[in-house]
Amino acid sequence: MNLIELKNVNFSYDSKKVLSNVSLKINKGEFIAIIGPNGSGKSTLINIMVGNLIPTSGEVLYDGVNLQNIKNRSFISYVPQKSYSFNASFPASVEEVVSMGLYAKKGLFKRLSKKDWEEVYEALKIVDMLDYKQSLIGKLSGGQLQRVFIARSLVAKPEILFLDEPTAGIDAKSEKALYAILEKLNKEKGITIVMVTHDVWAITNKVTRIICMSEGKINEKCEAVDLTAGELAEVYGYPVKIAKHHHNGSVNND
Ligand SMILES: Nc1ncnc2c1ncn2[C@@H]1O[C@H](COP(=O)(O)OP(=O)(O)OP(=O)(O)O)[C@@H](O)[C@H]1O
Ligand SMILES: [Mg+2]
Repeated sequence: MNLIELKNVNFSYDSKKVLSNVSLKINKGEFIAIIGPNGSGKSTLINIMVGNLIPTSGEVLYDGVNLQNIKNRSFISYVPQKSYSFNASFPASVEEVVSMGLYAKKGLFKRLSKKDWEEVYEALKIVDMLDYKQSLIGKLSGGQLQRVFIARSLVAKPEILFLDEPTAGIDAKSEKALYAILEKLNKEKGITIVMVTHDVWAITNKVTRIICMSEGKINEKCEAVDLTAGELAEVYGYPVKIAKHHHNGSVNND
């Protein structure tokens, strides 16, 4: 997969128009952050890109092929918004939850092979959760659970990883650790990453591109990593604290 392309995508829930004429190209190897105010259509856009929602009009193409015509989508992986609050009371262990990431590839009722389990453990190692492999997911903290969900999304070895607010509700230290994991996956494994986030401050020096959404549209002016606080406040509708990272390593807040 070299290129994702959205061509004039429109989407409405019932009569409510949520995306209007969204066109976008994403290259292999990019690490993209999608930002924008609540309700601006970020999660809807991600759901369109992973194929959970079908555009009212327009196209979603992967290497020129319409996503609706692609049966095997195991090269795409998706960590939804609030996945951590989703099924935390489900009586499953960490390794079982991660192994569920193989279902798309293997089918639901196939027994997992020794090699499959090795891949489960490798994914847990990447997110530094191998020690917890037999813990029940209900006993994990929010940040640990989020890492488990990332491991589950990695186990099928996707080429592109979509994450919707992966650090919502977790502390600054876990947030930093998560971004470090994502940066590593992008740089070392070449996984293309598209992430929705509100942590503009934390990601400006990690991502290759920031895409700003407002009212169902992409705000072109904002498509740069070097945004001023004023420009960000304009798209967000409230002041956003950003840090300018200088080449000598010092950081100024403005
Ligand atoms: N299932 C749904 N049915 C009807 N309307 C919906 C549905 N999901 C979202 N919407 C509406 O679509 C708009 C965009 O929602 P979306 O979840 O894409 O926003 P978002 O940018 O991800 O917001 P947030 O930052 O709060 O996660 C909102 O006005 C929302 O109320
Ligand atoms: Mg959302």
